[in-house]
Amino acid sequence: MSKIPQEVIDGILDRTDIVEVISGCIQLKKAGRNYKANCPFHNEKTPSFVVSPEKQIYHCFGCDAGGNAINFLMKYENIGFPEAVEVLAGRAGVQLPKYTKAAGQGPSLAARLYEVNKMAAAFYQNLLRGENGRNALGYLEKRGIDTDTMSEFRIGYALNRWEELRKYCERKKIPAALLRKAGLTIPSEKGKGDYDRFRNRITFPIFNERGHIVAFGGRVMDDSLPKYINSPETEVYSKSNVLYGLNFSRRGIRERGCAVLVEGYMDVIIPFQHGVTNVVAASGTALTERQVSMLKKYTDTAVMVFDADQAGEAASLRGLDTLIAGGMKVRIAALPEGEDPDSFVRKNGREKFEDIVRAARGLFDYKLDLLVEKLGVRDVGGIADEMLPTIRKVANAVVQSDHLKRLAERLGINETSLRQEMGKVRPDYSRRVAAPSEAVLNTRAYRSSEIHLLGLAISDKRMFDRIRGELGLDRFRDMNVKKVIDIVSALFGNGEKRINPGKLLSRFENDARARAAVVRAIAKADISRDPEKVLTDCVSCVLKENRDEDLKDLTLRLKEAKESGNEAEMMELMKKISEINKEKVA
Ligand code: UTP
Ligand code: MN
Repeated sequence: MSKIPQEVIDGILDRTDIVEVISGCIQLKKAGRNYKANCPFHNEKTPSFVVSPEKQIYHCFGCDAGGNAINFLMKYENIGFPEAVEVLAGRAGVQLPKYTKAAGQGPSLAARLYEVNKMAAAFYQNLLRGENGRNALGYLEKRGIDTDTMSEFRIGYALNRWEELRKYCERKKIPAALLRKAGLTIPSEKGKGDYDRFRNRITFPIFNERGHIVAFGGRVMDDSLPKYINSPETEVYSKSNVLYGLNFSRRGIRERGCAVLVEGYMDVIIPFQHGVTNVVAASGTALTERQVSMLKKYTDTAVMVFDADQAGEAASLRGLDTLIAGGMKVRIAALPEGEDPDSFVRKNGREKFEDIVRAARGLFDYKLDLLVEKLGVRDVGGIADEMLPTIRKVANAVVQSDHLKRLAERLGINETSLRQEMGKVRPDYSRRVAAPSEAVLNTRAYRSSEIHLLGLAISDKRMFDRIRGELGLDRFRDMNVKKVIDIVSALFGNGEKRINPGKLLSRFENDARARAAVVRAIAKADISRDPEKVLTDCVSCVLKENRDEDLKDLTLRLKEAKESGNEAEMMELMKKISEINKEKVA
């Protein structure tokens, strides 16, 4: 929980324009009073993501994401509340006092690890430029990396000595334990102090999505093994959570609408230097779900670039199911024998490389052709075994159905039996949507009435007053609506004339459900053409629901009173019931 006082947050939000914040991340188009875009949080072709400058909120009608500038940054950048507030404070030129960090605690471990990694990267960069770095520099030049690229990717060199970094840090009073936690040093077995992990290697800092250095890869400059050593997993680094190059390429990925997935550090660096600015690497591991969801914030299309031998291995395509399951459109591009993206771009240039990326084929066709070639078209069982799990993971039912049909055609078998075959290994998404019952429908109408009323109350003080008068605030039953309406009431009570929804949201920092209620409420109030009529209808719907609930309750109590023979209570209850029934008719 954050210790940042509400006034400070309000002050920051006052100086923040959500349109500016969001347009720094995605492209917004003006649409009337609002701005529109394709939602960055789910897959879509037509924009349902709306940003309102007046209300200082965003909302997606497709996936129901929504919130203020802080919430947007948290979700988009994958960061926590205090970090998002810090970013906005920085933009707004607001000095955040110490209380962002719990008293006396200093910066978090993560922040200290970023800092020590940054320091180490600079240290290695210096060595690369120094007297002892000549060989290393020569190696990098031979590999075609120019000096600007070296600086941008902060490539460096670790000397062929055991304690260079450790001693440097001792002089700088950096705690040995912190270096160890960063994975930069290793405790010696004899207990004689720590030694440097990276020695006589080119150092490639590994950045997280936001450009903090979380780890290093170190490459030898000859054929010795292992070719690379990497930082161990640390508090800020997990191999499966990082895509190398994403901090550099995320802009390009979004602009080009596609990510090019390659294998190694050099396969990112060289193409990037030549202008392929949408390239990232999973660095020698199969793509994880986490990595896919990181990519999905920027695009729903990925092209995997394989070298020729890998591409010939159907097994290597199996890993791509992660992408498909994540809802990505995956295509495969194969490079000529013996080339990787690094060598190919250096020999043939950017255009030829992009031709190959453009010519990439869909995974389905690619994999099927490969299997037919390897196993022969008569090995129906073998081909189906490989293809069905892939098809099963396709989230879009229409596409999935089309794949099945085409596979059946190609194999010359009956589609129904293929479908049955797939059903045997059916995963959990075969859920069927039953038609909602009348009771459910009623509840829905009722819930939607509460939300509608909440929207009206937020948008206009006059409406709020009428709702309080005609319905009463204690009539709301939805917990989240209740919470919000209480705050709204307090704000108006304090003499506010208008409520800034963006600020209202910041009161529910730790309450995603309440925030969702606010955003939905505002969206509803926005589309209603005739607020007066909506108010009347919704008030009567909520009243009716309240009456029905009261009736249920009274009937129950009447039954109890009868059982215990309490005549007075029975009379009382029957009177109440008949009153409610009269109201109902009126
Ligand atoms: P590659 O062997 O394809 O290396 O491994 P590369 O990136 O093409 O490097 P160059 O061109 O020979 O310099 C691909 C990726 O696998 C990881 C690294 O992330 C590397 O970039 N890897 C490879 C390791 O982590 N350790 C290794 O020993 C080898
Ligand atoms: Mn290579």
